[in-house]
Amino acid sequence: MTENIKSVDICCGLNWGDEAKGKIIAHLSKHGKYDFVCRWSGGNNAGHTIYINGKKYKTHLIPCGIFFNIPCIIGPDCVINYESFEKELLYLKDNGFNIDLIKISPKTHVITKEHIEDDKNNYKSQGTTSKGIAPCYRDKYARTGLQVKNVVKFQKYLWDEKLYGNILCEGAQGFWLDITQGNYPYVTSSTTLPYGACSLGFSPKLINNIYGATKIYDTRSGTDTEFPETLFEDNELNMIAEAGNEIGTTTGRRRKVNWLNMNKLIKSINISGTTHVIISKIDIFEKLNLYKLINNNNIVIFNSTVELKDYLNNKIYKNCNWVKNIIYSNNVEYVEGLI
Ligand code: IMP
Ligand code: MG
Repeated sequence: MTENIKSVDICCGLNWGDEAKGKIIAHLSKHGKYDFVCRWSGGNNAGHTIYINGKKYKTHLIPCGIFFNIPCIIGPDCVINYESFEKELLYLKDNGFNIDLIKISPKTHVITKEHIEDDKNNYKSQGTTSKGIAPCYRDKYARTGLQVKNVVKFQKYLWDEKLYGNILCEGAQGFWLDITQGNYPYVTSSTTLPYGACSLGFSPKLINNIYGATKIYDTRSGTDTEFPETLFEDNELNMIAEAGNEIGTTTGRRRKVNWLNMNKLIKSINISGTTHVIISKIDIFEKLNLYKLINNNNIVIFNSTVELKDYLNNKIYKNCNWVKNIIYSNNVEYVEGLI
């Protein structure tokens, strides 16, 4: 029933996850008049932190639209574990949110106990979140998996597969964790790029705004040869990790920090089709009076936020044709100037 869809907006991560997508999605949900907020990929490996009236909330699988009373869909290319889902439902219910708005695609694949055990035992070297993601997608693609529609406990949550009006799609993870684009095998097992959202059942022609999220520095949770252990020895980067509280929402691990890689950012903006770039955590640089990024493998140093922003604006507008707007955000609760 895609003829009833007016427009689709997407929020995606441009780096390795943890780019403050939760905050952006919350802001859009609050102001954007969306009829649905949908997740299109991954499972409870994600961790979205959002603040409402100063109170902090965390979700892993359920879209942030739930905080603003908007119907929420867990899409067919997501994966779901019943016990974790139930836990999240209870948490939301206890906090006064209407969990009747949450629906799951009948085609969503089920993460079983065996998947979680397999992940814990066999994927340590990759530093996964141990939520059973890779084994579940493996079974999906081997065509031996289990879908939500065939599990009794899930029946009351089944989505009728209809969408209408204005849709917001909530990305999980980030561009460089995409199963195809990322540094394989140090990736997740799903499509983190906006085109993946079409798995919800609409044409790419309906996509309007693509909100690409990045921080002013790069972080990596989990193992990756592009983020060597030596990064932990750099004083300035450690100061940023401390000031930015770079601890994983899902895993509680300290994230590796590096200066923003400009070349990678330009590529992820362009391939994702990002129209609005949201750059968060500038305040961390200001607090430490440190302003650096990496361009063509060289560290570029600036003296102030103004210099840094000028450089970023020039680079992005010059190299990224789709970008209409670059927004810098310091606030954990809202994104001034977004809508
Ligand atoms: P998996 O998705 O649990 O299989 O983990 C694969 C890789 O992606 C690991 O390096 C994880 O740390 C990373 N990862 C998965 N989800 C997220 C996320 O939401 N934020 C940051 N990193 C993530
Ligand atoms: Mg996160």
